[in-house]
Amino acid sequence: MPLFRHNYSPTPSCLTFAVFLQIIAVGGEAGAFKQPHILFIVADDFGWNDVGYHGSEIHTPALDRLAADGVKLDSYYVQPICSPTRSQLLTGRYQIHTGLQHGVIRPAQPNGVPLDVPTIADMLKSAGYSTHMVGKWHIGFYKKEYMPTYRGFDSFYGYLLGAEQYYTHKRCFDIHEGRTHKRLCGLDLHENDKPVLNESGTYSTQLFTTRAERVVKEHVKSGSNKPLFLYLPLQAVHAPLEVPPEYVHKYDFIKDKARRKYAGMVSCMDEAVANITKTFKNFGLWDNTVLIFSTDNGGQVKEGGNNWPLRGWKGSLWEGGMRGVGFVNSPLLEKNSTTSQELLHVSDWFPTLMYLARANTTGLKLDGYNVWQTISKGKPSPRKELLHNIDPLEWPSGSPFPGGGFDSRVRAAVRVGRWKLITGNPGPGTWVPPPDKRDTTLHFKRTEHTHTDNTLRFIPRYKEKRSDTQNVWLFDIMKDPLEKDDLSQKYPSVVRNLLQRLAYYNSTAVPVRYPPEDLNADPAKHGGVWRPWED
Ligand SMILES: *[C@@H]1O[C@H](CO)[C@@H](O)[C@H](O)[C@H]1NC(C)=O
Ligand SMILES: *[C@@H]1O[C@H](CO)[C@@H](O)[C@H](O)[C@H]1NC(C)=O
Ligand SMILES: *[C@@H]1O[C@H](CO)[C@@H](O)[C@H](O)[C@H]1NC(C)=O
Ligand SMILES: *[C@@H]1O[C@H](CO)[C@@H](O)[C@H](O)[C@H]1NC(C)=O
Repeated sequence: MPLFRHNYSPTPSCLTFAVFLQIIAVGGEAGAFKQPHILFIVADDFGWNDVGYHGSEIHTPALDRLAADGVKLDSYYVQPICSPTRSQLLTGRYQIHTGLQHGVIRPAQPNGVPLDVPTIADMLKSAGYSTHMVGKWHIGFYKKEYMPTYRGFDSFYGYLLGAEQYYTHKRCFDIHEGRTHKRLCGLDLHENDKPVLNESGTYSTQLFTTRAERVVKEHVKSGSNKPLFLYLPLQAVHAPLEVPPEYVHKYDFIKDKARRKYAGMVSCMDEAVANITKTFKNFGLWDNTVLIFSTDNGGQVKEGGNNWPLRGWKGSLWEGGMRGVGFVNSPLLEKNSTTSQELLHVSDWFPTLMYLARANTTGLKLDGYNVWQTISKGKPSPRKELLHNIDPLEWPSGSPFPGGGFDSRVRAAVRVGRWKLITGNPGPGTWVPPPDKRDTTLHFKRTEHTHTDNTLRFIPRYKEKRSDTQNVWLFDIMKDPLEKDDLSQKYPSVVRNLLQRLAYYNSTAVPVRYPPEDLNADPAKHGGVWRPWED
């Protein structure tokens, strides 16, 4: 008996859903459909070469086992940085359609995922789910309407920015205005809309694990017959490199200090995943649970992460920035213990989870695809094309490639079947082995792009020496996943075709929203806490 009935149309509410259940009960059909529980775990800055099953020197027994028994996603893409991945995950929409094409949302920026775009949590909640979030938000909070509990989550325990301290849960951030400079510092740990003041000293991976376990226990103990959606974007393993020493001892063999600490942080995260999945099992939810594990972007090589042998790292349009660690484990998979080579993207989770929940998506514009048949049964992916991004605010480089209708000075990348085209400045793009395996020293050149208009500033980047005029690269990713062989000179007509695809996507883009920072965000004005600052 298949777990899901294909011709079953979505139900808008629990009420019709209940009626539907009664109808099949009356019809005497066994095994009525039950909406699955969804456990969605996101790791932060977790690199391709940081998981055991990719051959890392870091031990991840829990992740390895769950991936081995489930479906490893080998051709799964995320965005090169944090807010973009999270916004696409939560909305199913490309950044060009939410105005968040450029950078991350900075702490004092009055910006966020537009309020008229529903989140996964909004949708699952109206489909009858109990919806809880533990961990990192980072898609905007300047008004209370942007907070997780206003965006579909019944509860929220976690933080709003990125890169906080793991023990103090504080975040400091420098604002530069012309020649002046101001440091904003505050606590960033919240339960719903209240600051959590008493957890300084508790390591966040453990804090969030305990909280996630409590969500599961309370859900079960409440006797609720609702399915559970637990969104768990962990702080691990983003910088700063902080970890209880007991997780690091087993990595004495790693000489590089940053890599060694980072490995300890990964081990703690692996244990967190083990503990949480065990809680789902102990409380009887697992048999009807879909677990998705995903990184948010490639590893940060300057902070212990690694993406070897892929090219580039976090922040770049090279594979090392975007080809993500991801897998699905669930008793509901029809084919398990496999690896999917199919093209998948973080924006696909939205429609996929809507399908699993039988939520009504009529009228929603989505850029993702329902990929459940691909993951669960090994069917070909409905996704043939992937817009990685078009970022018109990134500093242009070189001169335009003739033909194709898209200005190749603009930072962008698109994948069509086997072909990947990168334009503009792709970001850092060397191949970086794990530190203990480096026989040569890598030289980073610090570059900073600054618009004359000081409302726009760019995060300093490290990049390798390369020609400043080249702004088009073409790769056959199927044959050359390491992006060693640029084919743009050899196949100019393919380049033009892909430029046309970029031109098409660009014609559907909304304007970028990247407002200046607002000093009213200063936690000093809000009791020492990062919180919504506008009414
Ligand atoms: C889904 O929602 C749309 C628009 O809200 C509504 O018109 C339609 O009847 C719903 N579909 C189902 C199957 O309930
Ligand atoms: C902080 O307060 C919460 C809520 O009262 C409580 O559950 C938690 O155990 C406290 N944490 C510490 C470290 O005391
Ligand atoms: C996992 O559970 C064990 C046993 O309860 C506990 O000691 C450990 O701290 C937990 N790990 C995390 C990361 O929460
Ligand atoms: C994998 O699928 C088989 C066949 O459906 C099933 O018996 C087994 O329990 C599944 N394994 C896991 C770990 O879900």
